[in-house]
Amino acid sequence: MNYFLTLLCVLMSMNMEAWANSMAYVIQNQASIQNSGKKSVLVFDPKRLDLREVMEGDKISVKVLIRNTGKQTHQVVRLESSCGCTSVEPDTRVLAAGGFTVLHIDIDSFGKRGDVKKSIVLTDEQGNQSTAWLHLHVKKNPHAMNGKRSLFDGSCGRCHFDPAKGKETGRAIYAAVCVMCHGQNAKGGYAPSLHHHDLSVLQHLITHGTGTHHMPAFSQKQGGPLNTMQINALSRWIISLDD
Ligand code: HEC
Ligand code: HEC
Repeated sequence: MNYFLTLLCVLMSMNMEAWANSMAYVIQNQASIQNSGKKSVLVFDPKRLDLREVMEGDKISVKVLIRNTGKQTHQVVRLESSCGCTSVEPDTRVLAAGGFTVLHIDIDSFGKRGDVKKSIVLTDEQGNQSTAWLHLHVKKNPHAMNGKRSLFDGSCGRCHFDPAKGKETGRAIYAAVCVMCHGQNAKGGYAPSLHHHDLSVLQHLITHGTGTHHMPAFSQKQGGPLNTMQINALSRWIISLDD
């Protein structure tokens, strides 16, 4: 009896594993769907959402619809938001012709300021895409500054902390954890240009931050992702852009 039960368990766990493998395959397969360059018949409604004024630190949840304007069933295989600071989850991913689903969007405005424009790109099973735009104006919130939160915590760390790991060259470190705010070749973007700094000033600012949570200390000693060697390599690379 015992033997039989064990056998049953082994069989069941094998099946589970096979199932998990096939699921992994499906997901991989979907992830490999290439952008066809064409517009999807799955469209956002509305396509542009103006959230106006938001106090920094507010978490905002909004809903938009995804409509299937085609004549066949289609599937949402991928949803990408331009900053992972937002989570996007539809009620269902398979949409019958003429049908719709609700897309739940969560935006965490911590660390943001001024006008921020975010896009959400949907890809269907044929690689066709459509885009929705969210606009928000983030107002200064003095109370958001006192907290202990940082860009490196929790879910934010997946993109703003973890990618620095194992990177050795200045260029690679910059591409991992700086470019999203300071722009290509440190020319500036959401955050200022990093050109024309002295090496020691640069090292100091990267190590200790600027004293605001918008630009936190990046050194490991202060809770950041970078060790001293990485900070030196990064600073030297940024300086080299001035030549
Ligand atoms: C999936 C990766 C990912 C995650 C997770 C993520 N970010 Fe970002 N973040 C980015 C990228 C990429 C950009 C560059 C701008 C863009 O593409 O929207 C960015 C830009 C920013 C900016 C600059 C302003 C802006 O929105 O453009 C701030 C501030 C920021 N992130 C804070 C956060 C915070 C706080 C969290 C956690 C709540 C977080 N991020 C989670 C990838 C991510
Ligand atoms: C989430 C966005 C964000 C990321 C990521 C980020 N910074 Fe910044 N950084 C800022 C902002 C915003 C400022 C402007 C000063 C402030 O508001 O505190 C700034 C300021 C600076 C300054 C001071 C510039 C000056 O002229 O005063 C330096 C140097 C700097 N950052 C370097 C870096 C480097 C190097 C990285 C990557 C390790 C990095 N930053 C990553 C947002 C960011």
